[in-house]
Amino acid sequence: MSLFRTKPIDVNADTGLKRCLNAFDLTMLGIGCIIGTGIFVLTGVVAAQHSGPAIVLSFIVSGTACAFAALSYAELAGAIGGAGSAYGYAYSGIGEFVAWIIGWDLILEYSVATSTVAIGWSGYFGKIMELLGIHLPHALTNAPLDGGIANVPAMAIVLLLSVLLSIGVQESARFNTVMVFVKLTAVVIFIVVAAPHINPANWHPFIPAATTDASGQSHFGLSGVFTGASVIFFAYIGFDAVSTAAEETVNPQRNLPIGIIASLVICTILYIVVSGILTGVVHYDQIDIKAPIADALKQLGIGWAEALVSIGALAGITTVMLVLYFGLTRIVMAMARDGLLPKPMAVINPKTQTPVRLIVGSGVVIALIAGLFPIGKVAELVNLGTLAAFFLVCASVIVLRRTRPDLKRPFRTPLVPLVPILGMLFCGFLMYKLPTLAWIGFVIWSAFGLVLYFVYSRSHSELAA
Ligand code: ALA
Repeated sequence: MSLFRTKPIDVNADTGLKRCLNAFDLTMLGIGCIIGTGIFVLTGVVAAQHSGPAIVLSFIVSGTACAFAALSYAELAGAIGGAGSAYGYAYSGIGEFVAWIIGWDLILEYSVATSTVAIGWSGYFGKIMELLGIHLPHALTNAPLDGGIANVPAMAIVLLLSVLLSIGVQESARFNTVMVFVKLTAVVIFIVVAAPHINPANWHPFIPAATTDASGQSHFGLSGVFTGASVIFFAYIGFDAVSTAAEETVNPQRNLPIGIIASLVICTILYIVVSGILTGVVHYDQIDIKAPIADALKQLGIGWAEALVSIGALAGITTVMLVLYFGLTRIVMAMARDGLLPKPMAVINPKTQTPVRLIVGSGVVIALIAGLFPIGKVAELVNLGTLAAFFLVCASVIVLRRTRPDLKRPFRTPLVPLVPILGMLFCGFLMYKLPTLAWIGFVIWSAFGLVLYFVYSRSHSELAA
């Protein structure tokens, strides 16, 4: 029965971290983490290969899954809180084993996503250097398997962010807010500059006819729209990271639900508008799959806007890394504090009030992965881990309403159990649409997690004493 042991709830616990973030900071952290590689890079592949102009529908489908999950997150973040986010909610509500599975999924989500995004960052950085006339050598911008020595810019940005995160959460949040304004400006410039060039003929056919390529993979059609939704889900990842700042938030019961829902709503609206305009100005079969947004402006012959959007994308991708990396350290810290991972990982530096040891240690691991492995294309694996965590968060809302009806819930998910059930159905369906390769990676990762749990975590748990 120890698999189901639960942890007591203490929303306002003093954990040695500094409580300084308000609702605005959290919304900015959310947008900081959400808008990035998804809209600036992945829209290209999704529009050109899966959905065509119906990418707008793909965004709506995966945005709907996220909306249901966000409403569930908001209830639990307000009622339970804690840096461990979904891991902590399950630990208090369902039990240690499910909590471990969620925590293990979240580690996959945040660590692999940060490495992937670092590689995307390096690509954009190289592009901007080219615009400035500086050519970075192939050997220093590619992993060994891609014929290089290491992806040095990707490693450097991770290490720079580790310094910023170590200095303090307030400093990191300030930097994030400035960068979020830069990227929002880039998105608005795109909307304003490109919208007048929309040619409605580009939206026909809205859902291109289904085709199958030589490798047997199908594209377009209604099925393509849903596959597109499962891929573009990556663009929404990040609103959940807001909840990992619970222990650094002032009045978390009020501010967390606001931060989670506000950041998701703002980004969903921008995504639908941007992808609609993108497919309206460039025919879907002409969309660039590496830098679709900047390239659309290039195709329109508006060079200055292309340069500005590229800079905005770089700023945007930087904050995605910053917040994902932040989230990773907070979740690992929560798991270490509970004894499920080695305790020394959770030590907080009293001067900076941040888990410096963990930030530096995980930074080195992320930098090595980003620098030495060509994992730029594992977004789908990240999606699978995240969707699994979202699925379990929705389930936790239903379970906790039954097991802990007394819990104070400053924000209540509407229409329980309907909304969490719809969240589970949408997330489950998107998981089903993801490719087999992502599932293989996910199963291997999960198996590794199970072994670790039974060999180490179960007996080292604080609750095992
Ligand atoms: N949502 C984040 C991005 O699109 C992970 O880069």
